[in-house]
Amino acid sequence: MKGLSILGSTGSIGTNVLRIVDAFPGRFRVVGLAAGGNVERLARQVARHRPQVVSVSTPGAREALGRLVDLSGIRVGLGEAGMVEVATYPEARMVVAAAVGAVGLVPTYRALEAGKDVALANKETLVMAGELMLAQSRARGGRLLPIDSEHCALHQCLDGKPPADVRRLVLTASGGPFRNRPRDTFDRITPDEALAHPTWAMGRKITVDSATLMNKGLEVIEARWLFGIDAERIEILIHPQSVVHSMVELVDGTVLAQLGVTDMRLPIQYALSYPERWEAAIPGMDFTKAMTLEFAPPDRERFPCLDLAAAAIRAGGSAPAVLNAANEEAVAAFLDGRVPFTAIPESIREVLEAHPPAAVAGLGDVLAADDWARRRVQEALQRGAAARV
Ligand SMILES: NC(=O)c1ccc[n+]([C@@H]2O[C@H](COP(=O)([O-])OP(=O)(O)OC[C@H]3O[C@@H](n4cnc5c(N)ncnc54)[C@H](OP(=O)(O)O)[C@@H]3O)[C@@H](O)[C@H]2O)c1
Repeated sequence: MKGLSILGSTGSIGTNVLRIVDAFPGRFRVVGLAAGGNVERLARQVARHRPQVVSVSTPGAREALGRLVDLSGIRVGLGEAGMVEVATYPEARMVVAAAVGAVGLVPTYRALEAGKDVALANKETLVMAGELMLAQSRARGGRLLPIDSEHCALHQCLDGKPPADVRRLVLTASGGPFRNRPRDTFDRITPDEALAHPTWAMGRKITVDSATLMNKGLEVIEARWLFGIDAERIEILIHPQSVVHSMVELVDGTVLAQLGVTDMRLPIQYALSYPERWEAAIPGMDFTKAMTLEFAPPDRERFPCLDLAAAAIRAGGSAPAVLNAANEEAVAAFLDGRVPFTAIPESIREVLEAHPPAAVAGLGDVLAADDWARRRVQEALQRGAAARV
């Protein structure tokens, strides 16, 4: 039985991880669960799996959890320290990093430092500190296995091929809900419209990232670190059907693609069972019905987040952490109805342009850049809001 700790167990990925655990009785023992504030869902998970350690984000959430479920014999942590305890718990052999955003950085890093295998959904952590995370993985021997469907596809197509055999990686993108929407209407996009993703059901932040295409920009950075391929050799292709999850072109011109249904349980199971393959209860592709697959280059003018992410990785050092923090804050402001959709790329651009990229020698440098960017982007968002009144 593989000991499993799940950071972000109450989210879209976290709940699908637990569905995989349930689908393979006897394979996993859930030893740790970390969540934010959804104590009702966490209480159900605790009752079912009886982990040894759990964590929530606030004292109020901890009290509420204690009223909902018997916590005897379970260590209950709080905030970042609690998440780190879940991530480094001795009996966890694998940690699933499925919290959303920068909150996952320190716990995921500590898991790698403790030599754990990490199944990674929380791409923001790799965007912020890819070089540091990879160094920990190499130094301590814990594997970093992607859960993102695109990176899972690349992992399978690459299958250990050396970077020298690879001409380019091609990340596919659904294009999101605004693929065909005229640019001059973008300032009227509502949160509900942005949250209506055409092919995937996901958490709110990644769904908005998919609507701005920042998600694909973040994924380029994620792929750059996971596979050691320069960002210049990672391309993006709009593929509205989300059937081809990504492709690898080899130096001889051969293109390898991975196809599958749009169900996150597939890449999650791949990461959890790697290097084995287990028979899945998920229906496969239906090739008895005619199907059309479309591919088109992205429109970088309508979706400027792609170029912002490319600029951040070119600048290097602290710039990707700044990109990520500014994006997190801008997306939250848009979802709160404080700023229009178009303020997301505008404010990120302003903050990135004001940031002199600094070298990153440790987590402290990353967190300092994150903190600086959050303050700067709030100023930019407020200035923008004041100008629109
Ligand atoms: N969903 C997908 O299909 C998908 C696909 C590829 C990659 N990803 C990536 O996977 C990650 C998770 O995405 P998601 O869609 O699962 O997001 P989600 O549904 O919003 O879930 C986020 C999880 O993070 C937890 N969390 C939030 N703030 C926290 C805090 N301060 N302390 C501790 N935990 C906190 C939430 O806990 P509470 O709900 O209890 O507050 C929840 O468990 C993201 O990085 C995303 O980019 C997701």
